[in-house]
Amino acid sequence: MASELRLGVNVDHVATIRNARGGGHPDPVRAARAAAAAGADSIVAHLREDRRHISDDDLARLMDTIDIPLTLEMAATDEMLEIALRHAPHAVCIVPERREERTTEGGLDVASGHNHLKHFVDRLTGNKAIVSMFIEPDRRQMDASHSIGAPAVEIHVGAYCDALIEGDEAAAAAQLVRIIDAAAYGAQLGLQIHAGHGITFDTVASIAAIPEIVELNIGHFIIGEAIFGGLDSSIRRMRSLMDSARAAAQGEASA
Ligand code: PXP
Repeated sequence: MASELRLGVNVDHVATIRNARGGGHPDPVRAARAAAAAGADSIVAHLREDRRHISDDDLARLMDTIDIPLTLEMAATDEMLEIALRHAPHAVCIVPERREERTTEGGLDVASGHNHLKHFVDRLTGNKAIVSMFIEPDRRQMDASHSIGAPAVEIHVGAYCDALIEGDEAAAAAQLVRIIDAAAYGAQLGLQIHAGHGITFDTVASIAAIPEIVELNIGHFIIGEAIFGGLDSSIRRMRSLMDSARAAAQGEASA
């Protein structure tokens, strides 16, 4: 039987385009409904401190409207904790956040922020959210995430994807080894393993082939590609590439 590989579609950048003009179009909630219809297993939205894309109203409407699980990405701040506890999304991914960054540029340093982050994990898991820590592919960060009681981690695969897209095969291969090792190590600890950041049609296959990974969260590329072929087609193609890569890897493993 095929092992599970879920697809979370991040709708932040639908809101980015809307916010470029103000007003309500395009609506990330409409995109979320379309994503669900195209086969997304969950919707992902990052409410940033500066509200540069998703707004508080978007989050409220996503919670009210969509009938697949919502993952809220948030920084570990008191403001975001209060919002997450109030809305009670299915899952919460704790991410590092710096105002000046263009996107989430690296993983969370759970190993150093242990005491601060445990409080967030306790409160959110107490509220029935599946909490993941967004971390680099690193055993130390896996150990730290496990030790503070996080049930899940999301591996930041941006360095691998960037290296592959830039044609730096040696760097990509080295990054992939780190991801494979970290995923196996984390799964042995009992962590649910997710992956995300920078995934495209050209980079998804090797990540989807890693058997311990059960969820991919993908945003920017899917939304960007939707400009050319529509959101439905962009999501269906990603889903099909993921599923084929996973099936091929399973076939090789059982041969
Ligand atoms: N997962 C996490 C935790 C993220 O912060 C992001 C970016 O918002 C993504 C996945 C999606 O990354 P991308 O937009 O590059 O697909």
